[in-house]
Amino acid sequence: MAHAIPLVPRALVQKASRRYIAGNTVGEAVARIGKLNALGCSATVDVLGEVVADLRQAERTVDEYIEVLDAIHANGLDANVSVKPSALGLLLDEARCEQNLLQIVHAAARHDNFVRIDMEDADCTQREIEMFGRLRPKHSNVGLVLQAYLQRTYRDIEPLLGQGRNLRLCKGIYVEERWHLVDDAWRDRRAINAHFLHHVGRCFDTGTFVGIATHDAALINAVTELAHRRKIDGSRFEFQMLLGVCEPLRGRLLQAGFRVRIYVPFGKDWYGYSTRRIKENPQIAGYLMRAMLTR
Ligand code: FDA
Repeated sequence: MAHAIPLVPRALVQKASRRYIAGNTVGEAVARIGKLNALGCSATVDVLGEVVADLRQAERTVDEYIEVLDAIHANGLDANVSVKPSALGLLLDEARCEQNLLQIVHAAARHDNFVRIDMEDADCTQREIEMFGRLRPKHSNVGLVLQAYLQRTYRDIEPLLGQGRNLRLCKGIYVEERWHLVDDAWRDRRAINAHFLHHVGRCFDTGTFVGIATHDAALINAVTELAHRRKIDGSRFEFQMLLGVCEPLRGRLLQAGFRVRIYVPFGKDWYGYSTRRIKENPQIAGYLMRAMLTR
């Protein structure tokens, strides 16, 4: 799942991606969340890692998430967690993955906290939607992510809508390198924005809380206009952004009184996440050049 950046040494990827990652330890993540909370942002914490090679690794990830949830509670932080099922063994043993996820959901419930299931690539989409469908009726503190670039989202979203439900919408990141495997993905960026906005509208229509995960200023404007037109209260949605991305835009949203949540990844398994962020960065060449020169 982690696609390497050709010809770029691992050490440089690490250097260029420091701005996107809160550190290696729970303590570093806690310190960063404290700063974000002080700025007025809430957070969602991601223990870095995806597609485990064995189930023991998945169990260690569960323990780390429980430690994070305890630390959030102990430090009185405004933060929840985001989880990638592939890091809990989804592609090795679905039943064990669900048990692992349940342990995290129970730990979150003990602290009156919430677990977001991140949406991964085409190998995981159906399984993650089904797993969420099994968990949600018994556990109200779980939410799912849907990707606007998938045509199937029009079908997937409908049974997930309603009062008390909580979704995150994003454009989607995984397909680009595997278009040939995904036959129902839109590629045109403008069209993806229109679909994204449609799904936000469905959340607004149905009283579903929605996390709007994007740094796209035009899309954010379209969402705020839609909310204004439909008289949607600011407590019914939030903007979500990645740590280290578009901080001036984040500041403007906070200043305008919108809720903003920052995705805070930390941990030793940084490579897959870092390569995705670096590839999305429009100044990528500049960062890598600077990193090479200051090595
Ligand atoms: P777009 O890619 O058009 O970027 C808009 C602008 O933002 C760019 O022009 C640039 O200025 C800036 N920008 C974006 N990325 C940057 C970077 N790395 N460095 C510097 N500037 C950058 N995807 C998924 O498939 N499953 C998931 O569960 C999630 N979860 C998720 C949570 C949160 C909180 C966010 C913000 C995003 C995700 N994503 C995700 C990723 C999402 O699908 C998408 O790939 C990225 O957010 C980039 O798309 P934008 O909507 O920001 O627009």
